[in-house]
Amino acid sequence: MAQSNGMSDEVYYPSEQILAQANIADYDAIHQSMLRDPAGCWDQIAREEFEWFEPWKTTLDDSNPPFYQWFVGGKVNIVHNALDRHARTWRRNKLALVWEGENYDQRSYSYQQLHREVSRFASVLRAMGVRKGDRVTIYMGRIPELIIAMLACAKIGAVHSVVYGGFSVEALHERIEDSESRVAITSDGAWLRGNVVPLKDIMDEALQRAPTIQTLIVVKRTGQDVHMEPGRDFWYHDLMNLPIADAHIETEVMDAEDPLFLLYTSGTTGKPKAILHTHGGYMVGVATTLKWVFDIKEEDTWWCAADPGWITGHSYIVYAPLLLGTTSVIYEGAPNHPFPDRWWDIVERHGVTVLYTAPTAIRGLMRFGDAWPNRHDLSSLRLLGSVGEPINPEAWRWYHRVIGQGRCPIMDTWWQTETAHFMITPLPVTPLKPGSATKPFPGVQIDIVDEDGSPVGPNEEGYLVIKSPWPGMMRTIYRDAERYVNQYWSRFPGMYMTGDSARRDEDGYIWVIGRVDDVIKVSGYRLGTAEVESALVSHSAVVEAAVIGVPDEVRGNIIRAYCILATGYEPSAHLVEVLRDHVGHEVGPIAKPSSIEFVDSLPKTRSGKIMRRVLKARALGQDEGDLSTLEA
Ligand code: WTA
Repeated sequence: MAQSNGMSDEVYYPSEQILAQANIADYDAIHQSMLRDPAGCWDQIAREEFEWFEPWKTTLDDSNPPFYQWFVGGKVNIVHNALDRHARTWRRNKLALVWEGENYDQRSYSYQQLHREVSRFASVLRAMGVRKGDRVTIYMGRIPELIIAMLACAKIGAVHSVVYGGFSVEALHERIEDSESRVAITSDGAWLRGNVVPLKDIMDEALQRAPTIQTLIVVKRTGQDVHMEPGRDFWYHDLMNLPIADAHIETEVMDAEDPLFLLYTSGTTGKPKAILHTHGGYMVGVATTLKWVFDIKEEDTWWCAADPGWITGHSYIVYAPLLLGTTSVIYEGAPNHPFPDRWWDIVERHGVTVLYTAPTAIRGLMRFGDAWPNRHDLSSLRLLGSVGEPINPEAWRWYHRVIGQGRCPIMDTWWQTETAHFMITPLPVTPLKPGSATKPFPGVQIDIVDEDGSPVGPNEEGYLVIKSPWPGMMRTIYRDAERYVNQYWSRFPGMYMTGDSARRDEDGYIWVIGRVDDVIKVSGYRLGTAEVESALVSHSAVVEAAVIGVPDEVRGNIIRAYCILATGYEPSAHLVEVLRDHVGHEVGPIAKPSSIEFVDSLPKTRSGKIMRRVLKARALGQDEGDLSTLEA
């Protein structure tokens, strides 16, 4: 199907079948009409696709930029639209979640069952004192209770703050403390490659540093012995067996602009910041993007193979599929456990029709060769997706040819924790170029600008910016509105700065290049240099540290660290291991530097800022650029 467009780029055109079934048949028409009247179009979508307790007065309030508000005055609850309304119709008997444990445990929930479990747990949370607006920290593996806990919080108007189960003590502590959660939910452990990740032990250690938690609810998953603190810790199954687990509970009526969740993510400097999303705009944005980009139909089986602890999981495992009444597959464990065909086996056994994953996973599975996927019947698949980092054309072609068997278009979706939903992405009808996220989602105003904020020419690299508000946009950084303005809206006035660089080709296709700030994408996970550096210097052997990302064939980037040792410590291979483990213990295994170099000094500006750009250029053997600000 690949055809040359006369340039070196190959183009893949959609088949007749894809064109015939597309939810959106004409990209240009809808893009133009949404650009002309964004508020009017979103107003119509919000009215037609969702149930509101009370209609809004203003669709988009842009009187106080960058604090944009959507559906102002509207009353809604995302859980009413994700569960309550489906449980009233024939969909009550449709599967909402099909869960598979790493050890092949299986559990599935119809919309009615999920609605009931969420209602019962919402009643438990309320009985434990959780009120509208309270923050609740959730730290679990990929099990149904994680999703039940998130939805139960939202149902009673509490604000969930999910911490990815791969994070460790200090990362968890920081997030609990910043959110001031009084209630947390965890599990005894999580299965990963046949081993137990001791989540409860990590939580206990974090709570020694963050005593704000008064109540900890623990789900039993792995069954090993864990310490239960009397008066503080309660088993989930015990609480759910009490009369307080009442299935009859009203869903809280929320303002469209009330907070739904906080999600911590790494930014340019300093500590991770809590991105705040709301009930109304977020709901409209995530559901509409999923429906249009992945062409979701009633009979689909959707599998987003991300973790609910990241934005991809929040938006496209938990909220969007349930809002659309879709059946989702969720898998607990590692893609290559016990064998490298585990994913393909899941696709075949559950009849997955749309698979959404990250380039790092594709590259990782590609390494094992074609024989593993080829022994499975993957004919149920009709669309594929990619997210998290640029996908290299080689991985794209393999995914297309071997997994999609040449039949399934690949939706390479660019977006961020901050945007909540897809912003640059093909639709199924879009001709595809491997490695390009193609065009803006309908109505989104993307530009690529130079240092002065002026648009760059075709094929020139520049800063990727967004020039108009969208429904799912973050509303602020929790308790730090100033940082929200400074970090995203100050560099180029009136434009949202994404932190990425990109170029646009002569066909208007956007090619995202990567981060231009101190964020490193390791296996698609977003980490900040500051987090890893502060973990390194929290060890007594290290007085100063700098980390950079260097390209890696499978993981996209890996972390390289430079450390200045304290007096009395000598460089050694043993010390490298000690420090790597220390970072693993404080931040999490994904943050472990792949290599650590001991140095006597670090390149700094005269004001004392570490010049990571110089370290990176040295590591890659490139020109070190302008060194005029370097400290003498
Ligand atoms: C990167 C993940 C290229 C980008 C949803 C962005 C991508 C950051 C793509 C956000 C893509 C995400 N092509 N780069 N399709 N998708 N990125 O907040 O650098 O974890 O700024 O959200 O991931 O990461 P985050």
